[in-house]
Order: sequence, then structure tokens, then C-alpha cells
Amino acid sequence: MKIHSAEFVMSNSNVTKAPKDHIPEYAFIGRSNVGKSSLINMLMERKDLAKTSGKPGKTQLINHFKINNSWFLVDLPGYGYAQVSKKKRVIFQYFIENYFKEREQLVCTFVLIDSRHDPQKIDLEFMRFLGENQIPFCIVFTKADKLSSSKLNKQITSYKKKLLQHWESLPQTFTTSSTSKLGREEFLNFIATINEDVADNFN
Ligand code: GTP
Ligand code: MG
Repeated sequence: MKIHSAEFVMSNSNVTKAPKDHIPEYAFIGRSNVGKSSLINMLMERKDLAKTSGKPGKTQLINHFKINNSWFLVDLPGYGYAQVSKKKRVIFQYFIENYFKEREQLVCTFVLIDSRHDPQKIDLEFMRFLGENQIPFCIVFTKADKLSSSKLNKQITSYKKKLLQHWESLPQTFTTSSTSKLGREEFLNFIATINEDVADNFN
């Protein structure tokens, strides 16, 4: 899929105030610092469309980006960032969960996992939350450039094996790097296919 346009639409903390356009929407979620905002920039080939930072906790709101005038990408705050005050964490959790429960346009969620990490409780819990709420999701292994290809393969195989201890089957997975652009074509083609599949629901 070719990207002709990618525009920031709005940020907010309340899903009821999110854009009303009835078009397919894709959300990016995962631990703070896993690379959600960077992946959006890589996919859109824009340096600074979504704000990134070396420090966790950069994205603090629900951010809508309209792509090719026909679908949304949504950058969300990360979870599991210990430095955020407890009160703020509860508020984050509340509006993120609300977003997932209420957003009818959401067709697929990408749960980002740092390729270097083994399954962590907070990610497994979040996937369980999505499953319980019947929200379709894929797993995206990020920062692939940080491992050699043999280590990367080993790590991902082991991750999937461990996931199968919790799930009967695996969701679709992608492996990406925002620095080398690994995975870009495959990722965008996947979205293009879903956009076609769901087109009838959005007319
Ligand atoms: P929050 O908004 O805080 O939840 O973080 P985020 O998940 O949006 O992460 P962000 O995209 O801001 O990236 C965090 C850090 O990881 C930044 O320093 C990025 O440059 C770095 N980073 C992200 N993706 C990659 C990648 O694929 N490879 C490498 N080497 N670094 C990456
Ligand atoms: Mg971010």
C-alpha cells in the first residue's frame, strides 16, 4: 500500500471525544518505550508525526492520525511505566480500557513487544483483556535491529512457545525495526487487506 497522506487529527483522553468518522481504525499499544510512536513514524515515513522519546511515558493521550484520508492509526500511551504516579496510572488505565471497549471503528489492535524480552505479566494481562473483550489483535515484535538475526529468531520462537501456554492459538505476528524499516511492507499490506475485508461494514 502506498501512503499518500498522513495527518494528525486530534489528541484527547476521552474516547467519546475521538473523531466521529466512520472509517477503519488500528491502534498501537504496549509497554512504555516499546516503540509505538516510532513504528507509526516508520510506517508513514515521517520523522516526527508521532512524538517519540528515549524516556518512557512520552505519549500520554489518545492520538488519532488519518491516513490516505480513509483510515485511522491511533497512538496510545504505554502501560507499565513505574515512574508515573499511581493516580495518573489509574487514570491512564481507565481511559485506555474505555477506548478499547467503546471504539466501534477499531478493527485491529497491534500489541507491541520488545523483541529482546520474554513474556511479561503486564503484556499477557493486556492480551487477556483484549481477548475477553473480543478485540482482535496482532503481536508486533519491535526493535529487531537490536538483536542478531539468529538471536532474534530464537527469541521470537521462544516467545511464541510461551504464549501457547496461555492461548490455544497464536495471533498473527510481525517483526519490525523502526530504524531499518524491517517489516514495513508486510505491515502495510496487512492493513490494506483488512481495509478491503471490512469495507462493506463501513459503507
Ligand atoms: P511511550 O510513548 O513512552 O509509551 O513510548 P513508545 O512506545 O511510543 O516508544 P517511542 O516510539 O517513543 O520509542 C522509545 C525509544 O525507543 C526511542 O528512543 C526510540 O528511538 C527507540 N526505538 C523505537 N523503535 C526502535 C527500533 O525499532 N529500533 C531501535 N534501535 N530503537 C527504537
Ligand atoms: Mg509513544
